[in-house]
Amino acid sequence: MLNEATLILDGQEYRFSIREGTEGERAIDIQDLRARTGYVTLDPGYGNTGSCQSAITFIDGENGILRYRGIPIEQFEQAPNFVEVAWLLIFGHLPSDAEYQSFSADLTACANLDESMKHHFEGFPRSAPPMAILSAMINALSCFHPEFFDLEDQAHFRIAAAGLISKVRTIAAYAYRHSIGQPYIYPDPALRYVPNFLHMLFSQPYAEHFCEPVVRDAINLVLLLHADHEQNCSTSTVRMVGSSQANLFASCAAGVCALWGPLHGGANVAVLEMLDQIYQGQISPEDYVHMAKDKDSKVRLMGFGHRVYKNFDPRARMLANVAERLLSTLGVKDPLLDIARKLEEIALEDPYFVERKLYPNVDFYSGIIMRAVGIPTNMFTVLFSIGRLPGWIAHWWEQAQTRGSKIARPRQLYVGSGVTDHVPRDQRS
Ligand code: CMC
Repeated sequence: MLNEATLILDGQEYRFSIREGTEGERAIDIQDLRARTGYVTLDPGYGNTGSCQSAITFIDGENGILRYRGIPIEQFEQAPNFVEVAWLLIFGHLPSDAEYQSFSADLTACANLDESMKHHFEGFPRSAPPMAILSAMINALSCFHPEFFDLEDQAHFRIAAAGLISKVRTIAAYAYRHSIGQPYIYPDPALRYVPNFLHMLFSQPYAEHFCEPVVRDAINLVLLLHADHEQNCSTSTVRMVGSSQANLFASCAAGVCALWGPLHGGANVAVLEMLDQIYQGQISPEDYVHMAKDKDSKVRLMGFGHRVYKNFDPRARMLANVAERLLSTLGVKDPLLDIARKLEEIALEDPYFVERKLYPNVDFYSGIIMRAVGIPTNMFTVLFSIGRLPGWIAHWWEQAQTRGSKIARPRQLYVGSGVTDHVPRDQRS
């Protein structure tokens, strides 16, 4: 095995060491490339750039493998528990019973928002996108919790992490209640993480929402399958913002904004809109796939394709199974599930998708599950954010703990004008 790479530039040879990851992935360490050669690398979209070393999540996109702290993602399906996974990702090991109970107690204790934060919701129009509210309110949390600006040690960080994971769920629920003009429902300390969230979303002051175990398990699974995905766009954003030593809340608020886009977390909304468009008879599945292949149309088959997976996204397989199970247990017949299956069947046999190795991703089936539970489409990406939060927190902390970690500051290749003289306005043509 090579342990050095040789680069020849202008006839001169430079050697760079090779770093090897736990699973045998290899990287050329070019940290001193510019200092030694005067050159930078050019890699738009960072498809070939390792921005850090991380011990949190492993993905093998060629073989459809995803592991959290070494544990294959499939092993979380039997007894899905989002809080356990959050702990695992953030602290690096599965929680002992005592750790789990104490973390759950912290989540319960932190669930309420400062009462004056409720006024902030009133200031947003009813039609405000919930992702905008979520990001704004996570930032607003910094104003109410300046004690978390400088995290002194792991114990202090743990309280901040629990506070954020717990409060984000309350913010999400309040954003929804505000959008439908209904009273805010306070968190119930007797309820676990997911039932408590659904309680705040769906209960009325005069009627308690009951969370079926099958629904609890399905939403736990949806959240934990979104919990981390190594250096994706939003996580890289959180790390980028955190690298300037911005606080945890500010960094995660930026992550929400990155996640919002339709090529990232916003894809789960776009998938539902696509399925609905087909269901409404505006277009057939065959014509939609045809349009997605046409480079002039700007249409993509939403929920398909991935930067890293060139094989089935294991999360999509698991979500497809859960969608079937949930719908049949609840006795719900959703024609959108049949349309999704049909689209998948067509695409997987089409040479365009086969050659480009485009498979269903995590967003393809998640919306069908959320819809079956009564979660409105505009809240789908908010649920993705709640799910991704432990990953963001884990990465923010990992970076903060890395000795010698630097502010993220990529270079560029300047292709603008050469030196140009300023012309006074009255002399410009
Ligand atoms: N429908 C049609 N064509 C596609 C699709 C798609 N969904 N995805 C990729 N392609 C084509 C693309 O046009 C390109 O073709 P060509 O080589 O002829 O130019 C080729 O496949 C490679 O695509 P790319 O855009 O260079 O790949 P990327 O790694 O930059 O983008 C992606 C990955 C996820 C942004 C893209 O596949 C996509 O836009 N998918 C639809 C949106 C989506 O489902 N996003 C959720 C991603 S998973 C969860 C998450 O990250 O939030």
